[in-house]
Amino acid sequence: MYDRSTQVDRSADSINFGIGQPDFALLPHALMSEVAAERFAEGDTELLNYGFPQGDGRFRWALADFLGRGYGAAVQPQQLMITAGASQALNLICTLLTRPGDTVFVEEPSYFLALRILQEDHRLNAVPIPTDEYGLVPPAVEEALTRHRPVFLYTISTYQNPTGRTLSENRRQQLLALAEAHEFLIVADEVYHLLDFGTPPPDPFAAYADSGKVLSLGSFSKILAPGLRLGWVQTSAQRAGLFAASGLVDSGGGLNQFTSNLVRVALEGGGQKAYLDSLRRAYGQRVQAMDAALHRHIGDRATWTVPAGGFFFWLTCSDHFLAAASSLPAGSAPGRFDTTDLLDAAAGAKVGFLPGRRCSSVGGLGHCLRLCFAHYGIPEIEEGIRRLGQVFDSFH
Ligand SMILES: Cc1ncc(COP(=O)(O)O)c(C=O)c1O
Repeated sequence: MYDRSTQVDRSADSINFGIGQPDFALLPHALMSEVAAERFAEGDTELLNYGFPQGDGRFRWALADFLGRGYGAAVQPQQLMITAGASQALNLICTLLTRPGDTVFVEEPSYFLALRILQEDHRLNAVPIPTDEYGLVPPAVEEALTRHRPVFLYTISTYQNPTGRTLSENRRQQLLALAEAHEFLIVADEVYHLLDFGTPPPDPFAAYADSGKVLSLGSFSKILAPGLRLGWVQTSAQRAGLFAASGLVDSGGGLNQFTSNLVRVALEGGGQKAYLDSLRRAYGQRVQAMDAALHRHIGDRATWTVPAGGFFFWLTCSDHFLAAASSLPAGSAPGRFDTTDLLDAAAGAKVGFLPGRRCSSVGGLGHCLRLCFAHYGIPEIEEGIRRLGQVFDSFH
């Protein structure tokens, strides 16, 4: 046996809404094979060479132009440091700007694998900040600042993973003011920002890159393909230059020379934009399908809001479901029901989800769960939510 490419268990007959990845069937094989052929045909000897430290210049121009149009706010190529994805960008930021034991603020809930990078890989003290319907709660940040001096605040400000929620414009301004006054950085993971389903979100934090307080992370993983391992940090030109001068880059050169050279052709030729628009349409239909199926099969046993973009629904179990489920022997101790307790029954019904607890930096949120609507087509979404409804039935 050899290792397969993906980290997730994707058995043929199971529908796992815990997988937060694009649909394999939608990945852009034809587009990438066209741009690769075109780029190789140029006969450029730089294509397979070590890359320019901050990222290929022509690629950064093309990316700045693409982002400027998508964000509705100008982007300068000098503000962009090209990375091998947003995860690597976050890792690089931690390596260069933090030491073990330093404090960072994180949203409660947050992206569970970013929490691993912060808490396990870099041994940072992640302080959870409450969120609500409109994202991070600024007075809670202010309150935490009376007790902590964070190096940075990590926020997934648009179509958050896991909640699907978007930080309001007003709160973005309040956080920028707090970052200025209390001298911390804002690491805004904006990988879903361009994935709206019709209504554009507020300006990204990227629009404030020149403030010196913002590091905006972007990625092609959700808008083109995760296997490309291509992303960027947008920040002040000065700070982007500092990343490019790191030992990692000094040794290995630009962090993704080859793929960025192929994707540049997709950006310049309009293929990326057309592909992104097709994803928005497909995911927009999947959101509607999942919402309708949730109403049919879960009903008032949980609450959720319909995300306006991104990948995820976040379900909060209702009090009456929790009370009924807690009293069953199948659950854990009465009153301590956790959506993790649904996993065995879910596996039996051949459906999966991500328990809320995985998204908490402090082991909370047991009454919530995350569902990804991007990975499966509409028939699987309808069937999978029907199965999830049966799992809820067995606890209620
Ligand atoms: C918020 C967030 N950041 C980063 C990533 C990973 O990005 P990349 O593939 O660019 O490392 C994900 C993927 O699920 C994500 O949801």
